Amino acid sequence: MESSMCILILCLSAITPVIRARVVPVPPLLQNYEKPSSNNIFDNSMYGLLQLNNGLARTPPMGWNSWNFFACDISETVIKETADALVATGLADLGYVYLNIDDCWSASERNSQDELVPNPKTFPSGIKALADYVHEKGLKLGIYSDAGRFTCQVLPGSIYHENDDAKLFASWVSLWYMYPIYNILLCLDVGIECMNLIFHGVIQGVDFLKYDNCYNLGINPKERYPPMRDALNATGRTIFYSICEWGVDDPALWAGELGNSWRTTDDINDSWASMTMIADLNDKWAAYAGPGGWNDPDMLEVGNGGMTYQEYRAHFSIWALMKAPLLIGCDVRSMTAETLEIVTNKEVIAVNQDPLGVQGRKVYVSGTDDCLQVWAGPLTGHRIAVVLWNRCSKAATITAAWGALGLESSTSVSVRDLWKHEDVVTDKVASFRARVDAHSCDSAGSEPLLATTKEESTDGGSEGSKNPNPIFSETGDDFWACGASTVDLLGCRLFDGMASLEKILEVNPCSSACKEFSSAN
Ligand SMILES: *[C@@H]1O[C@H](CO)[C@@H](O)[C@H](O)[C@H]1NC(C)=O
Ligand SMILES: *[C@@H]1O[C@H](CO)[C@@H](O)[C@H](O)[C@H]1NC(C)=O
Repeated sequence: MESSMCILILCLSAITPVIRARVVPVPPLLQNYEKPSSNNIFDNSMYGLLQLNNGLARTPPMGWNSWNFFACDISETVIKETADALVATGLADLGYVYLNIDDCWSASERNSQDELVPNPKTFPSGIKALADYVHEKGLKLGIYSDAGRFTCQVLPGSIYHENDDAKLFASWVSLWYMYPIYNILLCLDVGIECMNLIFHGVIQGVDFLKYDNCYNLGINPKERYPPMRDALNATGRTIFYSICEWGVDDPALWAGELGNSWRTTDDINDSWASMTMIADLNDKWAAYAGPGGWNDPDMLEVGNGGMTYQEYRAHFSIWALMKAPLLIGCDVRSMTAETLEIVTNKEVIAVNQDPLGVQGRKVYVSGTDDCLQVWAGPLTGHRIAVVLWNRCSKAATITAAWGALGLESSTSVSVRDLWKHEDVVTDKVASFRARVDAHSCDSAGSEPLLATTKEESTDGGSEGSKNPNPIFSETGDDFWACGASTVDLLGCRLFDGMASLEKILEVNPCSSACKEFSSAN
């Protein structure tokens, strides 16, 4: 019988320290590129080399972008209706808050003051009005420009206009809308300061800039992308800087100091071939991603019709695991139930948004052309997310051996399926295997499996405040100590390598099951 297993959570239940989910800590800015990567399978030693550090993107951005479905066929009506739909469908509540307008919003020429202007036919009310509309709904607005002479659709680009354009993007605020009476008084009182606030957009303005790579005059991207970073910074408004250089000059190596994300590949298209190829290309740069700066394998195609339901589930699962920006690329005003089910899977979203921020990667391959694959990545709570991905043309059994996940084979884990939303097995040792359909099958095709081992208890809500990210902690050898048998009921914690078992039990509110287990040993 075929399994329709897609994503699972494995949960650790061994008492002995087993998982070295932790990687060599990287003091930001001090790492040098030549340092050999650690042999840890979840190596992230290249992360944080050159952090932009504008406070954004602690987890990958989530939202929507107009390009994949609408391309140039956009208007203020489409954008407003999309804002309405993001809220009405519950997507906004799940974290999809960036509403990003891609190419084609602007008129074909700058105005007489050399400013970018919205296309008067499609955006007659202007972007400022849209920004108000979007912000009023609790969403954030993204805009698009190009680090070249023209955008890809041959509209004005921003090279050599970085400061003016950044100011313009940040200035799209309707002050009167925000604070009508208060602002009149404020401006009477502080005069020019007040006007600065308004025009520099401290109060509102855009929240995200996608910066493309067309008509780039052959200038090195390392020269073309910094001016816009500086211009955005100078506006005083924190704006997510999404570098869209298509991976041409390996931006993972240099874009971390420039942007909050950087495209690692050419554009995705709505096909299995494109999606799988892009996943593989993006995988190469896993060690460079982390909170503040992410590899970007391009927007989601889920819901656009070119892949099967199962293929879209695989697409969404792998993008989540790879800590890719989750930017929906379909028409959210008219999603099918299946599309909505995929993009609203809270457990899969939680993998993407996990505060540990380590990009999952391909850890094991077998079969013809390596088409049977295991992808995995560590999460907080001493869990490991695992995807069993059948990219072959026939159903097959895929085995995730603990060794491939960086676990001792004696480690006992429980497994949860994040698509079925059920616990599959407990106290599993050595490996987990599942029958996974081929992607071309009509029903349960190319099912990735995502498994996690429970890592750290969430007691005291300390995850948000204290260092949520043990991988980046500066202290000694952290490891898993106490186990859990299900994700939600029991907890595990990360302890210092020298801690005694007693100490572990004393400080860890481990469950009675855990204590029994330990006293029996
Ligand atoms: C501007 O850059 C500085 C230095 O990196 C940073 O501390 C600050 O938060 C940035 N400001 C904005 C608005 O991005
Ligand atoms: C989509 O991408 C794949 C892989 O790069 C490519 O083979 C195919 O021609 C592309 N399809 C379209 C319509 O561009």
